[in-house]
Amino acid sequence: MINYQVNSQPIKQLSLFPSCTHQDRIKASPILKWAGGKTQLLPAIKQQYPQQLKQSKIITYIEPFFGGGAVFFDIYSNFKIEKAYLFDKNPELIILYKVIQNDVGNLIEELSILEGEYLGLDTEKRKELYYQVRENYNTFDKQTDANNYRQEWVKRAACTIFLNKTCFNGLYRVNSKGCFNVPMGRYKNPKILNKDNLLAVHQAFKIAEIKHTDFAEVVNYANESTFIYYDPPYRPISETANFNAYSSLEFNDNEQKRLRDIFVKMSNQGALQLLSNSDPTNYVDDPFFDELYKDFNINRILASRMINSKGNKRGKIREIVITNY
Ligand SMILES: C[S@@+](CC[C@H](N)C(=O)[O-])C[C@H]1O[C@@H](n2cnc3c(N)ncnc32)[C@H](O)[C@@H]1O
Repeated sequence: MINYQVNSQPIKQLSLFPSCTHQDRIKASPILKWAGGKTQLLPAIKQQYPQQLKQSKIITYIEPFFGGGAVFFDIYSNFKIEKAYLFDKNPELIILYKVIQNDVGNLIEELSILEGEYLGLDTEKRKELYYQVRENYNTFDKQTDANNYRQEWVKRAACTIFLNKTCFNGLYRVNSKGCFNVPMGRYKNPKILNKDNLLAVHQAFKIAEIKHTDFAEVVNYANESTFIYYDPPYRPISETANFNAYSSLEFNDNEQKRLRDIFVKMSNQGALQLLSNSDPTNYVDDPFFDELYKDFNINRILASRMINSKGNKRGKIREIVITNY
């Protein structure tokens, strides 16, 4: 049995950088590998940003399906936004981001211990440590209010990063009891601690309000100087065209319609908006999004990703992109 040491160092608050203008902003990138992450699609998504962003007319940026946040980090590094509202329904993500925001120094120390310990082990011992961390992770209080910051979250956040970097394929999957159940991956030399990026993300989050909430919360923050990017969970691709099957999913067609209603409402409030989703017409003649967003601009961009259900074939498929500008 390996003794995984809980970091008992005194808690430090770091003020790592003085405040800076957007030209001095350090490039930050997603901390986690996340399903539906937009890093690879970024060059095509950037083409869709509104002119007003380039003209520095956008003051507030909102990303209500934050996930790994690839688009926020790009916008933060390249444009002069002053405030960001970043939301997600996944509490573990929000806990991690709040720890980066409030206590990055202790998070780095915790990760450094974990990384040193893990990389020094052979495969069998690594496996023991991985499952020990996973077991420990699943004992953390799932009812905790992710909007109410707690210093004890540092270790939990370190586990989120550790598991993401060492688990199979960087997946995040929980069972019906909310327990993380992804097996160990096969990375030989995973980079568990990326200190520079953690510090850059900490800096980026200085302009951010990070919230565990539903996407509809955007209504409280958007106006004419706001840009909103929506990246909801994908509408699953079915080759059978049996779309009723979707209704059992968490983000089903009713959720897509609720999102469309928010898109309309925010448009009337004057916000500039961009929404992306996988394009069902890659596989079947399914005009779902074309009908849902018929009053807005619909474009299609090419994405490279797994294109069959066995996940062993990559290829170019279309992603649908909707704007109100
Ligand atoms: C496709 S991912 C976003 C990926 C992100 N753009 C990136 O680059 O990593 C969708 C995210 O929406 C979140 N989500 C699902 N339902 C939600 C809801 N009702 N309100 C807010 N977020 C939600 C999920 O937890 C997930 O992180």
